[in-house]
Amino acid sequence: MSDASNILVTGGAGFIGAHTCEALVRAGFRPVIYDNLSNSNAAVLDRLERLTGSRPAFIHADIRDAHQLERVFTDTSFDAVIHLAGLKAVGESVEQPLHYYDVNVTGTLTLLAAMRQGNVRTLVFSSSATVYGDPATVPIHEDFPRQPTNPYGRTKMVVEDILADLAGSDPDWRFALLRYFNPIGAHESGLIGEDPSGIPGNLLPYVAQVAVGRRQELSVFGNDYPTPDGTGVRDYIHVVDLAEGHIAALTHLTAQGGFVTTNLGTGNGFSVLEIVQAFERASGRRIPLRFAPRRPGDIAACYADPSHANRLLGWKALRDIDTMCADAWRWQSRNPHGYGGKDGS
Ligand code: NAD
Ligand code: UD1
Repeated sequence: MSDASNILVTGGAGFIGAHTCEALVRAGFRPVIYDNLSNSNAAVLDRLERLTGSRPAFIHADIRDAHQLERVFTDTSFDAVIHLAGLKAVGESVEQPLHYYDVNVTGTLTLLAAMRQGNVRTLVFSSSATVYGDPATVPIHEDFPRQPTNPYGRTKMVVEDILADLAGSDPDWRFALLRYFNPIGAHESGLIGEDPSGIPGNLLPYVAQVAVGRRQELSVFGNDYPTPDGTGVRDYIHVVDLAEGHIAALTHLTAQGGFVTTNLGTGNGFSVLEIVQAFERASGRRIPLRFAPRRPGDIAACYADPSHANRLLGWKALRDIDTMCADAWRWQSRNPHGYGGKDGS
């Protein structure tokens, strides 16, 4: 048994979680995954073992299960928790707000109570750029007002507030609130990647499934936005850069403690059409598309000012849009039906 630090990764079997586990192993940590597999597949454990040479410990359980969490902190000594378990589909959150508040907010409260009991007080939390809603200007700084426009975004804002209150009550707590922009791509090995169930709601997995032949054409939601080509502009960040941002946050908290809130983005905005072109370059395939009406709740442009994370954490996104698309394509073309061949089409 090595003396590497144990890090509990809730939601560690998911898209960002799996890449974070890989980055943790690379940085010398030992991730322990806690996940109920409601939006992921146990096959990711085999892939992580192939990729890193060690199989992460896995606890198949729900984040709202207080007894199970208590046992986890009794059985193993953890240095910190990276909390990614949660629900993330905006449309679903409008239809099922109670379920979203239950998993995302009650789940976090249950986790925090177990951490306090187990005397673990360092947590990295996955927040989202969605807390900014429709920003008055771009790029977005951390001190912009939070005005989420849907229940999913509000669950993230509520959790941010809970963590701030807890930090105010007891200086021993150490928190990093990471506001992700649009994570895409996959590990360069093609072994782990994004595997959405059903019809993808997000742009990149949809484009990738068109390229691989699972979907006929992309609907571009709106071409009359006040952007250079009329389509929506976002800050796409390679998921491995994002994963490495967690290591930087963890290292910062361990060394300096405190309460950190920071954007994780690249600072560059790309339009839907630019993404389609980049994916065509990466895959060598044509992506048929048609213009469709705007998607309700969408905004014109959203991209980060990443300078706070650059300064504070010494972290910077390194991978460009062509690398993001090439890696996403390698994953998609080698695993046309994701981890398990479960195809919701
Ligand atoms: P994901 O769905 O791939 O991963 C989430 C993981 O949490 C899944 O493995 C799922 O099975 C697990 N989970 C869900 N409910 C659970 C529960 N009740 N108990 C235990 N485990 C549970 O999503 P992701 O893209 O990897 O996102 C991870 C986190 O990052 C989420 O909290 C999400 O809100 C946040 N986030 C994601 C994005 C994005 O664009 N992907 C952007 C901003 C923030
Ligand atoms: C969405 C969520 C956001 C969440 C993020 C990650 C909404 C309104 N926002 O962000 O809260 O944090 O996903 O889960 O749902 N597009 C198309 N065709 C498609 C899909 C998308 O044209 O089939 C366009 C969108 O209009 C947008 C861009 O592509 O301009 C990116 O969309 P998407 O990947 O869904 O991300 P966001 O909307 O930024």
